[in-house]
Amino acid sequence: MPAVTMDQIVSLCKRRGFIFPGSEIYGGLQGTYDYGPLGVELKNNLKAAWWRANVYERDDMEGLDAAILMNRLTWKYSGHEETFVDPLVDCLVCKGRFRADRLHDSRCLRHPSKRPGECEGQFTEPRPFNMMFKTQVGPVADADSFAYLRPETAQGIFVNFGNVLATTSRKLPFGIAQIGKAFRNEINPRNFIFRVREFEQMEIEYFVRPGEEDAWHERWLEERLAWWRNLGLSSDNLHVYPVPPSELAHYSKATYDLMYRFPIGFEELEGIASRSDYDLGSHSKEQERLGLTARVIPNNDSTERLTYFDQATNQHIVPFVIEPSAGVDRGVLALLTEGYDEQQVKAIRPERQHTVAEALTAFLKSVDRNEKISAEQRDALLERGEAISRDLPAAFPQIPALLDMPGASSIELGKKLRGQVEPALDEAFRTVLHLKPALAPIKVAVLPLKRNQPDIVAIARQIRKDLQADGTMRTIYDDTGAIGRLYRRQDEIGTPFCITVDFDTLGQGKEPVLQQTVTVRDRDSMDQERVPIAELRTYLAERMR
Ligand code: GAP
Repeated sequence: MPAVTMDQIVSLCKRRGFIFPGSEIYGGLQGTYDYGPLGVELKNNLKAAWWRANVYERDDMEGLDAAILMNRLTWKYSGHEETFVDPLVDCLVCKGRFRADRLHDSRCLRHPSKRPGECEGQFTEPRPFNMMFKTQVGPVADADSFAYLRPETAQGIFVNFGNVLATTSRKLPFGIAQIGKAFRNEINPRNFIFRVREFEQMEIEYFVRPGEEDAWHERWLEERLAWWRNLGLSSDNLHVYPVPPSELAHYSKATYDLMYRFPIGFEELEGIASRSDYDLGSHSKEQERLGLTARVIPNNDSTERLTYFDQATNQHIVPFVIEPSAGVDRGVLALLTEGYDEQQVKAIRPERQHTVAEALTAFLKSVDRNEKISAEQRDALLERGEAISRDLPAAFPQIPALLDMPGASSIELGKKLRGQVEPALDEAFRTVLHLKPALAPIKVAVLPLKRNQPDIVAIARQIRKDLQADGTMRTIYDDTGAIGRLYRRQDEIGTPFCITVDFDTLGQGKEPVLQQTVTVRDRDSMDQERVPIAELRTYLAERMR
């Protein structure tokens, strides 16, 4: 299969209810997305896997869920008020605003096929733009009543360090884990859920003795790589980028970025930073008595010294911090990218190949001539469409994604093309999402061979109810199509197992021994096995990990 494009992922997400553009019926809100019925399950499964591995399966971790709104002083002493900025430039010609360090990833507003700088644009000098969103707390809007929406979950952990220590009696090294929303007023949100203005993070702040931070930094890098691999990301698609000193965040002594091969290329999935004593030191009072190594903002507002009493040396020390910080949304995008697969399962009749190729050519000609769509939409449609037509018939499954791209719905011939390609796809292709069963939104789909056969329906409904009973296997019942079409639908959303109840189950088939058995179909191999109903739970549980 050719490399997965972002359009294919976006199209699958929209079509099957994983992810929708935010506030769509009002024209959307840039940089926001809503997770639909399947997306919320996938995202919850990812977060549950992270929590299980990092909190439940370790002996050195506590969990936390801190408020999103925090006292403004948090962001003064964390350094975010001063340094959480991106360089912003204005173009005096097209009036666009761009991140100066990401011009290569932006589009000129007047000539969308060009990047800013490739056009006749003239830019202002870069100026710092603080990415924190402000909101008002309480009924009176004055200079003192605002707060920020947190741009990272980390600070909620640091300000609670003393509370967690006092209530759990933890000894170093130990960590605090948190999952939650973060908000950043990104200058150019782009690339679907990769760079958004509202997102979720899974963060660990791991506290160690000064001097032990480098060893723990390496250890966490290995742990986090192994975890992502265990979720199904292949080693070829992951690499480690040691961030050079000139690119380090203000708090970091050293950072490894864990990069994943997204459809847009290798980009950051998770950062693993060595934050020294910067954080606990910056939020502490009486900093001059703490012997800090990091340069912090003098703090006369904190009421606490965020230190750890070391019984071995009889001294208060400021622990150093290692921080593995992963994006949930980028994790979801990585899993979808890794799992997405299009397979040709049958030959396509030559006359069908011919009619689809003709319909695609006619569609692209119409795109080229159409004046209702923008130049950017035209360029993007032609670029994708031509790539598809060079790779027919293997690229047949990419045609629906082409027809879902911005502007495509204005092209009348798009309907004809869809009408030609859909039967070919049904007949000869399947899209499969190879998600690990633990991550799949639906674990089992129970399908009656005949929806108007009361005995078959009754058994199928009972199986669904029994499998769902203990809440470990999200199971659905589906009788809305022929079996072949239902299998394809479940393959596309990553359901690892389909169970079919048929006449053999009733003891009315050719082989009476098959009474009280069902067919279990495996998503990846498409193999089918006959399994006694009484053994279903054990059979599935063994294959669900
Ligand atoms: N506490 C450290 C911290 O926030 P970061 O590298 O800025 O570090 C950590 O963010 C992770 O959060 C990133 O690796 C990425 O996965 C995710 N992330 C950051 N900004 C994002 C955005 N605008 N949209 C989606 N995910 C984002």
